[in-house]
Formats: sequence, C-alpha cells, structure tokens
Amino acid sequence: MTHKYCKYLVNGIHFHMLGITFCNKLWWDLNPYSDYGKNALNEFLKTREEVLKNLFKGSAPENCSHCTYLQNSDEGVISEKINFIEINHWNECNCACFYCSARKTTKLKITTKRNQKGVVDVLSMLKQLEKLNLLDENLKFSLVGGEPTLLKDFVNILKFTIKHKFSIDILTNGILYEKYIPKALLASDNSYMSISIDCGSRETYKKIKGVDKFDDVVKNLTRYIKESKAASKRIIAKYIILEGVNDNKEEINKWIDLCIKIGIANFFPSIEFCHSAKDPENNVISDNVAELYQYIKDRIRSISSEYFVSTYDFVEEFIKNRSYKL
Ligand SMILES: C[S@@+](CC[C@H](N)C(=O)[O-])C[C@H]1O[C@@H](n2cnc3c(N)ncnc32)[C@H](O)[C@@H]1O
Ligand code: SF4
Ligand code: SF4
Repeated sequence: MTHKYCKYLVNGIHFHMLGITFCNKLWWDLNPYSDYGKNALNEFLKTREEVLKNLFKGSAPENCSHCTYLQNSDEGVISEKINFIEINHWNECNCACFYCSARKTTKLKITTKRNQKGVVDVLSMLKQLEKLNLLDENLKFSLVGGEPTLLKDFVNILKFTIKHKFSIDILTNGILYEKYIPKALLASDNSYMSISIDCGSRETYKKIKGVDKFDDVVKNLTRYIKESKAASKRIIAKYIILEGVNDNKEEINKWIDLCIKIGIANFFPSIEFCHSAKDPENNVISDNVAELYQYIKDRIRSISSEYFVSTYDFVEEFIKNRSYKL
C-alpha cells in the first residue's frame, strides 16, 4: 500500500530553541511539535507515534504538505529508530557574522562566556532516548545552533557520541579550541567538523565576523588538523561567498593558500542562502557569485585529486538555476 514517507519524520528528531520538531527543513516556518514544558520528550514521542501511524495510512502532518522531502512510498515495514538528531537548542555565540541565519531565527546573543543558564537539558533527553532503546546504531548527530563550543554541555554531548561511536557533524567557528572534537572525529569514520572561515585575511575576517579572531582560528585549525590524525581529512573549511565583501578571486586564493598551508584537504564553497527569506522578490543569484562558486571547485580540483570538495545539494540547485527559488 502507498504511504507517505520522509526520513526525518520516520527517523529524525530536531531539538530547536523553541521546542522539539522532526526536522530543520522548514526553518523559516518552524512549527514545534512539543515546546520545552514538563515531559517535553514524552509529549513529542506521543505525537511521533500518532504521526507514524498516520503516515502509514497515507497522511502527513499539515506543515509537511508543501515540503519536497515528503514522498509517496510502497516500501513495507521500515525501522522507526532514530538515526538523525539535530541539536540546535541554544543561541549564544562569541562572534557576530553579519550573514548568520541564527541571528534572525533565534535572536542570537553575542557573548564570550560559556553558559548553560536557561538552556534546555538535551543531554538528559538523549539519555532517555537511549534507555528507551530508540537510538539506531548508525545514528548521526548534527550540532548547529549558536556556537557549540560555548555550550557547557558540549563536551558531555561529545562524550555521549564517543561512547556509542555515533557519528557527528560539528559546525563551529573555531574561535575556541576543544580537545574532545578530535576525539569525536576519531571515534567514528563518518564524523566531520566544519569551520566557516569565509576569507583568507584578518581584515576581511573582521568585516564578516565582527571580531578580531582570525589568528586564533588559524591557530586552532592547525591544532585540530594535528590532533585529528587520520580523521583530519574530515575537517572542512567553508567559504560563504558574500556579495561586496569577499566575492573576488584574490580573497578566495588567499583562503585556498592558507587552508593548504594548514593541511586542510576538504573545501566547502557556499553562498549566503537566507537571501530569499530576507528578500523574496529578488531571488536572482548574480553571475559573479555563480562563477566564483565554480572557480573554487575548479581550482581545488586542479590543485590535487586528493582534495575533496563538499557542497550542499540545494546550493548546487540554486547555482544551476541562478535563483534562490528551489
Ligand atoms: C548558524 S551556524 C552555527 C554553528 C557555528 N557557530 C558555525 O558558525 O559554524 C551553522 C552554519 O550555518 C552557516 N550559515 C549561517 N548563516 C548562513 C547564511 N545566511 N547563509 C549560508 N550559510 C549560513 C554557517 O556558515 C555555519 O556553517
Ligand atoms: S516532510 Fe519536510 S517538513 Fe516534514 S519532517 Fe520531512 S523534511 Fe521536515
Ligand atoms: S559563528 Fe555561527 S552562530 Fe556565530 S554568528 Fe557566525 S554563523 Fe552565527
């Protein structure tokens, strides 16, 4: 029998600032299924049971109806264990990237202190899911939100993934060094760390990030590469092309040269993709941005076949269509 399917509905959990949802895909239209009241996780799991029952009867939640991830499927029984958890529940950061999507969606707070005050206790919910035997052995975590290295529970979350050899994608600005990051990368072959440097010089870094921490990031990245040993190929350097700021070959080449000097082997070109939410009438991607995006990919590949170029599928589509509309 044909039923509705989305891997996030069936196997995902997303801990957002506002509550627990299935995914982070409709981030501009977020509708939490359970806010962080008492028994938030139990409430979510109850809703989840109902949602899964309905999916197999052919109907999906209302706010999934316009999502491209929702499909029809004829597959029989599939595992309902959780194999993807996105942790995105806090909103503090030690820099202020002017493009940051979290500044708009979660009213990001800028701070230099490590904090846990008022932050939801995701770790205890992970332990609850573990007790309920709901975690798939191939579980992948994604840590986004504000800056994870500022979260007091960050190390404990990493220890949880290391204990189970779960894989994890860590997105950090790299301003603070955390010794458990290399340990987490070494614990699973499918774990990655990504740092958005977005430039190759201190001056441009200050313009983008609002803080003078370029040298710290370079120093920390160098140490991460050294400490991660065999996993160092899973350390990714990102360059978000920002119109009028770093959209030129000179800055891009400085970034590539710097990354190569440090020992980066994985390069991630991207573009500012909250644009369509900010300015829905003006969805065009300029030829310059599209050409520079291609330039990064071509140049990395021409330097060495050992280097890896990572991309977001949806950004590839944006570039192909020269439009932020999918
Ligand atoms: C919101 S940040 C949080 C994690 C961490 N503070 C960091 O910067 O990596 C997650 C990722 O989203 C990317 N990002 C944020 N806003 C963006 C935007 N408007 N367009 C493209 N990428 C964006 C950042 O580069 C970063 O890799
Ligand atoms: S269908 Fe879309 S909105 Fe709904 S859970 Fe899946 S990815 Fe998220
Ligand atoms: S480092 Fe990350 S969370 Fe902080 S402002 Fe930049 S993109 Fe946002």
